[in-house]
Amino acid sequence: MVVADVMNIISRSGGAFASRWAHVVVGITWIGLLYYFNFVQVPAFAEMEAAARNNAIDKLASRALWWFRWAAAATVATGIMILLFQGGDNGKIQLTNGDYWKSTQGMSIATGILLALTMFLNVWLVIWPNQKIVIANARNVQAGGEPDPTAAAAGRKAALASRQNTIFSFTMLMFMVGTFHFFSISEFFKQTPSGGDRATYWIIAVVIWLLLELNALGVIGGTTPGGLNWIYDSHKAALITGGVLVVVYYVLFYLVLKS
Ligand code: HEM
Repeated sequence: MVVADVMNIISRSGGAFASRWAHVVVGITWIGLLYYFNFVQVPAFAEMEAAARNNAIDKLASRALWWFRWAAAATVATGIMILLFQGGDNGKIQLTNGDYWKSTQGMSIATGILLALTMFLNVWLVIWPNQKIVIANARNVQAGGEPDPTAAAAGRKAALASRQNTIFSFTMLMFMVGTFHFFSISEFFKQTPSGGDRATYWIIAVVIWLLLELNALGVIGGTTPGGLNWIYDSHKAALITGGVLVVVYYVLFYLVLKS
């Protein structure tokens, strides 16, 4: 109760708004760099001479990756701050308010957070560890050392997770922005769905999310190009898949939660 009171006082002086503003600033930093990697750097590196590419990995990609992974961490931290500060005046913090998570608004942001947390874990547990191998190899080769035979496979694992993050990003942002500006104010949606509606929605939403993430980790389609990995074969394929995913999640949300 004391924590809720303190949060309410800070929130009334702008805590929720300041967190929301900071969240968007660090969020665009993260996702902007994700799009730079996918739409600019990867196609450019594919056309570069090996020596120039190694130099760019050493000097440019390593710096971009620093901002990328810390912006991802700051986005999660500020997102949680919004949930702590934004509670209304009823003395309840949104983060621990069970009724909020059962509402259409809560289900919308929970879906966005599920995708965003997956993306965050992809950054810290897949992309960054594998990119460290790629960067170490580039630096070693530049210094005249032998190429690391595992570097190409590490780069491939990072690329699959990075493309999957691009695919998730459009749907994630639909729910981030839509929570306050669409799903909770639109007459298309029930505002207090039944337990059955919620269960139906979550089962389907989680199965789609899990299949895509397992595929990105190579558990379903391996790591070689083609087949189920077509969606990662080019940034155009990832863009198309990301667009389709927005429609799939929107239609699912609409069909299950329509008023
Ligand atoms: C696990 C990570 C994240 C958490 C916990 C989180 C949490 C939240 C919360 C609680 C809100 C407010 C929802 C509402 O309107 O009531 C929000 C809004 C938003 N988030 Fe996130 N978020 C996360 C990741 C991201 C990412 C990666 C981005 C990328 C840019 C992002 C961008 C936004 C935007 C643009 C809004 C809308 C702000 C507005 O409508 O005023 N979030 N997020």
